Amino acid sequence: MKAIRLHARGGPEQIVYEDAPRPAPAAGEALLRVHAAGITPTELTWTETYRTPDGRERLPTIPGHDVSGVVETLGPGVSDLSPGEAVYGLIAFPRDGSAAEYVAVKAADLAPKPRALDHAHAAAVPLSALTAWQALFDHAGLGAGQRILIHGAAGGVGAFAVQLARRRGAQVAATASARHHDFLRELGAEAAIDYRTTRFEEVLRDVDVVLDTVGGDTLERSWRVLRRGGTLVSVAAPVPPEAARDAGARGVFFIVEPSRAQLVEIARLIDAGEVRPVLEAVLPLARAREAFERGLAGHVRGKIVLQVQEPEARP
Ligand SMILES: NC(=O)c1ccc[n+]([C@@H]2O[C@H](COP(=O)([O-])OP(=O)(O)OC[C@H]3O[C@@H](n4cnc5c(N)ncnc54)[C@H](OP(=O)(O)O)[C@@H]3O)[C@@H](O)[C@H]2O)c1
Repeated sequence: MKAIRLHARGGPEQIVYEDAPRPAPAAGEALLRVHAAGITPTELTWTETYRTPDGRERLPTIPGHDVSGVVETLGPGVSDLSPGEAVYGLIAFPRDGSAAEYVAVKAADLAPKPRALDHAHAAAVPLSALTAWQALFDHAGLGAGQRILIHGAAGGVGAFAVQLARRRGAQVAATASARHHDFLRELGAEAAIDYRTTRFEEVLRDVDVVLDTVGGDTLERSWRVLRRGGTLVSVAAPVPPEAARDAGARGVFFIVEPSRAQLVEIARLIDAGEVRPVLEAVLPLARAREAFERGLAGHVRGKIVLQVQEPEARP
C-alpha cells in the first residue's frame, strides 16, 4: 500500500511517501480502507509517535490519528462492525496512523461516520471534537449559563469547543487573531479578542472555565481571568498545581482518549446540523509533507486533512 512514513524522529523533512506493508487486523481490530486522514501538526514531536504501547521504539512510523474510511476486514472477536461499513475514529497515539491506504484500528475506537459528511470532513472530526468534548464536559463540567474563555478558538480543537460550549448554553469568549473573528461569531462566540492587540486579562474577569489550546504565557496569564473556584483546562501544556492553588482554582491537563460513545453523540449533533467540522485544507496523501509544514506555520482555521481515496460521488 502507499503510505506516509518517517524513518527517523524529526519534522516534516523526514516524511516520505512510499510503499509499506498493508497491516493485518489483530483480535478486536478492524482493517480500514482509509478515505481521508486528519493530521495534527504537532504530532511529529510527540513521544508516542515513535513508541509502542509498552514503550519500545517504533520506526518507521505512520502519522495521522483521525480516520474516515470503510471497513475492509475484521480481526477475530469483532461483532459490532461489518465489512463495507463507513466509519470514523481516533486512532490511539502509540500505533501507526491513518496517513496510508489501509490502517488497523481497535474496533471499539470506531463509530459510524456522520451521514451528513463526506470522508474528508469526517476525518476532521474525531481528535479535535473528542478533545473539546472531554475538556468541556468531562474535565470542566461546563454548564448552561456559565462563562468560558477559549484560547486558540479558530484552531482544530477551538472551533469545536466554541460550538459545543455555545450549544450547552454557555457564554463564550474566544481569543484568535482578528481575521478569524467573524467566523468565530458565526460559530457562537459572543466576544472575540485579538490576542495580538489586547491582553485578555485586561478585558475579562470572573469566568467559570478557561480552555487553553495555546500554552506558555497564554496559560500563565489565564489564572487572572478565572473566578475563585473556577477551572482551567489546558490541552497544550501541563498545568502547574501550585499556580492553581494560588489562584484558588482547579487546573487540569489531560490527553484525549478514544470514545465510541462520544463519537456517536458528536455524529448525531453533526447530522442534526448543530455542530460542523472546519477544514483549513484538503491535500492528497502524496503532499503530506506540505500539509504538516502548513500546519506548523500556524494560524490555521480548523483542520488539515489528507485525501487518500478519490472523493466519493455525493447523492
Ligand atoms: N492534550 C490533548 O489531548 C490534545 C489534543 C489535541 C490537540 N492538543 C494540542 O493542542 C494544541 C492545539 O491543537 P489544535 O489542533 O487545535 O491546533 P491548531 O489547529 O494548530 O490551532 C491553533 C490555533 O491557535 C491560534 N493561535 C496561535 N497563537 C495564539 C495565541 N497566542 N492566542 C490565541 N490563539 C492563538 C492559531 O490561529 P491564529 O493565530 O490565526 O488565531 C490557530 O487557529 C496543540 O498544541 C496540540 O498538540 C492536545
